[in-house]
Amino acid sequence: KNRLIIAVDGPSGSGKSSVCRAVATQFGADYLDTGAMYRAATWYCLDQQVDLDDEDAVAVAVEELPLNISTDPEHQIICVDQTDVTEAIREPRISEAVSEVATNRKARQLLINAQRRIIDESGFIVAEGRDITTVVAPDAQVRVLLTASAEARLRRRGLQLEAASGAAETQEALRRQVLERDKKDSKASNFTEAADGVAVLDSSDLTFEETVNSLITRIDDVR
Ligand code: C5P
Repeated sequence: KNRLIIAVDGPSGSGKSSVCRAVATQFGADYLDTGAMYRAATWYCLDQQVDLDDEDAVAVAVEELPLNISTDPEHQIICVDQTDVTEAIREPRISEAVSEVATNRKARQLLINAQRRIIDESGFIVAEGRDITTVVAPDAQVRVLLTASAEARLRRRGLQLEAASGAAETQEALRRQVLERDKKDSKASNFTEAADGVAVLDSSDLTFEETVNSLITRIDDVR
């Protein structure tokens, strides 16, 4: 079977989710947002009132996590048990706590295994996160690190939050949030430097379309 895996890593606000969804839609491929899995795991821990500082308790919760994630790039739905958490996992309380789960070694390994199963089941998938090019699917045919300057990422995050809630979060609070999460995340995986064989795609000065097209060109090259 002719399997195709597209692995994209990058920091928050690099635009990788929208870019990857658009690219997957374009090719009729599956799409996997691994960040959403860490977020859903975090939602579940909070829902179950698991103490996030208790490493073993978090690992147990993630082991029994009844996660259901769709791989349709146009209908991203993520459920924990019967609860649709698609919206809830984007709340600030989740963003603030998610690094705690992502740096839990056992929880991380469980989620990586689940990600590999989803990728293995697909014939053509665009998977994005922080460690897809290096850990989850280092054998991917296309491996890209999507970066953007801190300013560009803050600008996009600001727009995203505005679009989501109309919240009047100050630029300064946003800046602190984004940089703080980068710092915490970098403890779980190094996504600021490209590993061997991973191409860097810097989107700071690219439009959304230009970024999407650049990734499409790379995929066309290996198809
Ligand atoms: O991509 P997103 O910002 O939704 O990811 C949420 C969090 O999940 C990240 O801040 C990071 O802590 C964690 N994550 C990870 N490894 C991945 C994807 C996400 O540690 N492959």
